[in-house]
Amino acid sequence: MSSYPMEIDDSSSPEKTTAKGKTLILEDPPSGQVKATPWVEKYRPQSLADVAAHRDIVDTIDRLTNENKLPHLLLYGPPGTGKTSTILAVARKLYGTHYHNMILELNASDDRGIDVVRQQIQDFASTQSFSFGAKSLVKLVLLDEADAMTKDAQFALRRVIEKYTKSTRFALICNHVNKIIPALQSRCTRFRFAPLNATHVKERLQHVIKAEGLDVSDSGLEAFVRLSNGDMRKALNILQSTHMASQTITEEAVYLCTGNPMPKDIEQICFWLLNEPFAASFRYISEIKMKKGLALVDIVREVTMFIFNIKMPSDARVQLINDLADIEYRLSFGCNDKLQLGALVTGFSHARCSMVAAAK
Ligand SMILES: Nc1ncnc2c1ncn2[C@@H]1O[C@H](COP(=O)(O)OP(=O)(O)OP(=O)(O)O)[C@@H](O)[C@H]1O
Ligand SMILES: [Mg+2]
Repeated sequence: MSSYPMEIDDSSSPEKTTAKGKTLILEDPPSGQVKATPWVEKYRPQSLADVAAHRDIVDTIDRLTNENKLPHLLLYGPPGTGKTSTILAVARKLYGTHYHNMILELNASDDRGIDVVRQQIQDFASTQSFSFGAKSLVKLVLLDEADAMTKDAQFALRRVIEKYTKSTRFALICNHVNKIIPALQSRCTRFRFAPLNATHVKERLQHVIKAEGLDVSDSGLEAFVRLSNGDMRKALNILQSTHMASQTITEEAVYLCTGNPMPKDIEQICFWLLNEPFAASFRYISEIKMKKGLALVDIVREVTMFIFNIKMPSDARVQLINDLADIEYRLSFGCNDKLQLGALVTGFSHARCSMVAAAK
């Protein structure tokens, strides 16, 4: 894996103004800011080679960029998987230091209604650009978080994309591809950024751990991977906050810092739910919740994962998972915690009855 340059030219600001006054972070921050920079930004991939995972996609985009055949792009997938980083790396590669003349970046924080498509985007796409020695004359319009664009704006964009294809490429980035109208999807080459698998998250974390000189135990590293669920941004954020909280990073420190229930606590809770009478089970879980500051919604989520792995009649399992899903749904509306804990214990009581009936 390549390294991340940290020597920084003090005269350059990390934020550059793009063609229409939008700011785009493409350069390394001044050295004074390096310490304060969140690790997600400090370790944002600078080039396409630095992007972890998605090798097929990144290699394809790299080849298209090299051959100057970049199509309109639609990158979609869950958060923290490297969509924005990839497109910024493409911009860096295409335009080098002149990117600010060649890019119009608009994200969800900007107004991107139909007026902006009609004026700002059209103006940018229709003006002649100078390459300043950069390889390509093609300009780039980055529409980050494009799923938040109104339908009208998306409809207006259809014609703009076609009209200015000669001089401008559009890159749409979003989490929910179904919120992009089919007509726009068909104008773009789609790439799906799946959640990173455990190996890639681990490798990338190890790179950061080495660069920062951290003391992380193997089980601690596993905990980051488990809690991140393939979201690299989440993994780096948890790593940084755990590092702030404790010098040596163990599994326990990670769970304590994030407030997530430890696997052994979940095992204990499931043991109570499956073996203790209703009242005792309710009391023990209330106590552990208080003592360790656990949220019921986290307990329900983890318990659900746990019961996938234990042996029980499928009828009982189906009903139990359905009950747990209902509890989670109600908790998301802020329903009373105690009542929902009662519902959790009740769900397990029903499952136990079915298990006993099935054994007879
Ligand atoms: N594939 C990856 N390789 C290396 N680092 C990554 C990768 N994906 C994400 N990261 C890390 O997570 C941070 C956020 O990534 P990025 O902004 O590219 O995510 P995204 O896919 O655009 O997410 P969102 O949909 O939330 O905008 C990056 O700064 C980087 O540190
Ligand atoms: Mg993004």
